[in-house]
Amino acid sequence: MLNEIHRKIHTLKEQGLYRVRKVADSPCAPTVILSGRAMLAFNSNDYLGLANDQRLIEAFKEGVSLYGVGSGASHLISGHSRAHDLLEDRLAEFMSPHIKSAKALYFCTGYMANLAVITALVDVNKDDCEVFSEAVNHASIIDAIRLSRAPCSVYPHCDHVKLKELLLASKATNKIVVSDGVFSMDGDIAPLLDLVKVCEETNAWLVIDDAHGFGVLGASGRGILEHFNIKSSHIIYMGTLGKAAGVGGAFLCAEQNVIDWIVQKARAYIYTTAAPPACAHALLKSIDLIVSDEGDAKRAHLHTLIQSLRTELSVIQGGWNLLASQTPIQPLVIGSNPEVLQASKALEDLGLWVTAIRAPTVPAGSARLRITLSASHTIDEVSQLVNGLKKIASGKA
Ligand SMILES: Cc1ncc(COP(=O)(O)O)c(C=O)c1O
Repeated sequence: MLNEIHRKIHTLKEQGLYRVRKVADSPCAPTVILSGRAMLAFNSNDYLGLANDQRLIEAFKEGVSLYGVGSGASHLISGHSRAHDLLEDRLAEFMSPHIKSAKALYFCTGYMANLAVITALVDVNKDDCEVFSEAVNHASIIDAIRLSRAPCSVYPHCDHVKLKELLLASKATNKIVVSDGVFSMDGDIAPLLDLVKVCEETNAWLVIDDAHGFGVLGASGRGILEHFNIKSSHIIYMGTLGKAAGVGGAFLCAEQNVIDWIVQKARAYIYTTAAPPACAHALLKSIDLIVSDEGDAKRAHLHTLIQSLRTELSVIQGGWNLLASQTPIQPLVIGSNPEVLQASKALEDLGLWVTAIRAPTVPAGSARLRITLSASHTIDEVSQLVNGLKKIASGKA
């Protein structure tokens, strides 16, 4: 077996698919220290620049002094602290303009939240259930569906017409549609108004994974539901709290009976130690910041950065393709693995850190630089990135 592992790792290296972790010696921020060198980074999901915000650091410390560092047990044994409970109430209240009788449930990660929601919904009626999954959904959704063992139909990217056909042809009583809100590797936004309409017409659940929309989309950061001004009893919402909210974990928000059912049934919720309460305590501060005037200003600045990057990169050479995204995820598709690795390395030589994304995270042949912007970037920093990319694309770097 060891020989086989060696052989397979060698093949990964030959194919340009071997993955390495770079060690950061500094907090998540626009400038990161890698191997003793300051690098300008465009690859975190810290969209509002909260991961290293002093007020959140203080809130986290306060949480540690109030609750200690660990929860000590799973939520249903003894690990559910006042901090977790307060956060869930705050999140439910925050999302209540868009979800009827909203209740929220906090998880250690978004990955776990997806495992929990899909398996628990399938469990409502295991033998009479079908899942409908968007073609470019996140890996955690794909894994959740596999774990649920429900039959699954995949519908083409953003194609609500095809989705409706599949739903109408289905004989299952318990239908569950699941889609990313903002697509994590493409940056585009799911056509939520159409998806909701189709789900209401066919009596299907709609699970929306808004990992990259929560805090970013919508006038006050309530994510994709606010962006489209939607309120529907068919929606089960998942937002992550380690991206725009700057800390860690995730939450589900839905009608209270749905949340109650997930607490009763979801093994990914029941059989794991609760996140440190200090995370939940700090997240109360994150929500305050997201919804504040300052949060509005951060979203406005982010929007300016996105427009500036898109305008400046609209004429990039080298056959590179900047995907049509209006979110902080701005993927520059380059094509082959060697080319994208070369571009990422050339940027690194210029002091710019943008990660190369390859298969199986994205389809083979569409390897890309996944540029992500944060409200903590300046316009000048975005220009530095643009100049670096232009140099490399024209072969001058
Ligand atoms: C669309 C999507 N869903 C879920 C997740 C998982 O969230 P987390 O990183 O909190 O596990 C991610 C993140 O990386 C994501 O991009």
